[in-house]
Amino acid sequence: MSYVREVQQVSEPDFTKPMDFLALCLFKGQELPTLYRPMDDALGGLVAKVLKDKDFKGKKGDTLMLFTGGPLARIALVGLGEEDKFTADVARQAAGKAVGLARKHNLAGCGLLTFEVDLAEEELTQALVEGMILGSYQFMEHKKPEEDARELESLILYGPASKAAVERGIILGTSVCFARDLQNHPSNFATPTHLAKEAERIAKAPQMNCTVYDRAEFTKMGMGALAGVAAGTDQPPKFILMEYKGGKAGEAPLAIVGKGLTFDAGGICIKPSEKMDEMKFDMSGGAAVLGIMEAVSRIQPKINVVAAIPSTENLLGGRAQKPGDIVKAYSGKTIEVINTDAEGRLILADALSYVVDKYKPTTILDFATLTGAVLIALGHRASGLMGNNDDLIEEVKQAADKTGERVWQLPMWEEYSEDIKSKVADVKNIGEGRLAGTIAGGVFLKEFVGETPWAHLDIAGTAWQDKDQPYTPGGGSGVAVRLVTQLILDRVA
Ligand code: BES
Ligand code: MN
Ligand code: ZN
Repeated sequence: MSYVREVQQVSEPDFTKPMDFLALCLFKGQELPTLYRPMDDALGGLVAKVLKDKDFKGKKGDTLMLFTGGPLARIALVGLGEEDKFTADVARQAAGKAVGLARKHNLAGCGLLTFEVDLAEEELTQALVEGMILGSYQFMEHKKPEEDARELESLILYGPASKAAVERGIILGTSVCFARDLQNHPSNFATPTHLAKEAERIAKAPQMNCTVYDRAEFTKMGMGALAGVAAGTDQPPKFILMEYKGGKAGEAPLAIVGKGLTFDAGGICIKPSEKMDEMKFDMSGGAAVLGIMEAVSRIQPKINVVAAIPSTENLLGGRAQKPGDIVKAYSGKTIEVINTDAEGRLILADALSYVVDKYKPTTILDFATLTGAVLIALGHRASGLMGNNDDLIEEVKQAADKTGERVWQLPMWEEYSEDIKSKVADVKNIGEGRLAGTIAGGVFLKEFVGETPWAHLDIAGTAWQDKDQPYTPGGGSGVAVRLVTQLILDRVA
């Protein structure tokens, strides 16, 4: 199992009973809080003494493991940093660290004691539960574990916590881990067909349905841009569509669209072979959409949602599209394909214009590993945010603030749209050379959403991490799942 799917909660723990591992979170310079006293009494005041002697300072990310020799065998201290800089994400990170420590010590269980801080109990609880589950994630499906490795099996939150918040944290944590699993599976496992099967599984939930269109069907429907990218692969491409009807009948839905490119070799404009393996993550936008729909299927919010994932490989061969080819998108706009490696925007052009035409959504959000340029601009730490509506941009920023998934807005001034004008078609699929590459991707997509309020997240940098983060191990991150679910929940609140 690549992650723990449950978090138990125990309101009044008995610290005199045997326990393998308990983590305590402490602010910088904090003395032993009263909430921790019964526990420390059971240890004869060990933690109070460690704090008094300043062996642990509580800096953010600091950890210290204490072996007690008693029934409560191991105590981990985890630093929260300065109290006035505390956010829910600090709690999430601390919980992730605690679980990481338990795993490093090859333990089967991780207990975490909740704490008192200036944040609503529900918010704190949800963040801690999310952090524990997210921190338990490991992608080991194709690797034999080490001889003496023990699997982490149980996560327990000790102290007062509301059931609903624990449940919410479990749903969000596991939905993100589900998206990570899809991301981490390479292209010979996570094929368009596999994504479609997962969509169909999720859609078995109440008020949900799923339709999958194959190559012949979406080509006939007019999706010439998706068909053009898919021309070079024998792996069957899919256009995946899901509907969730939790709102009033006939009420316009929120639309989410994700790039489901299961492997991007670049097409005829082939990519360099170094790090080409990373292009298995090019379906991360699609994985985010499935993660969001998984969460929605379990929370059942009172809203209508439509989800679309155009999914194919981008390969090269005798049938592949070539630079200079002109394709017609679902909207009727023609596109000159100058660079076959700018394929994400092509498949999204069809998906966006299809969703606009068929559903007249109130809002469209799209997620795509669209440009290498966003990595140059923001690294792995923030997603590029663009859109055509200030209120929606603000709404996305607010949801991102709550979930700790950083976003940074880039401008979409109309001059940028000049850069994607073509001499022979309505638009071309790249901008001015290497300049403003992320914005060029954004203004291209804008051509296919019409007047619908729309926001685009370029997640090429945030979709996967190269190094372990407090609650995100290296590999697929499941970015955007919590952010968008938060946005949906805020809308129905
Ligand atoms: N999938 C890539 C973007 C990407 C690059 C994601 C690096 C993650 C890491 C996308 O399809 C692509 O190839 N974009 C090109 C666009 C260019 C040809 C205009 C790029 O960024 O180089
Ligand atoms: Mn590409
Ligand atoms: Zn791509």
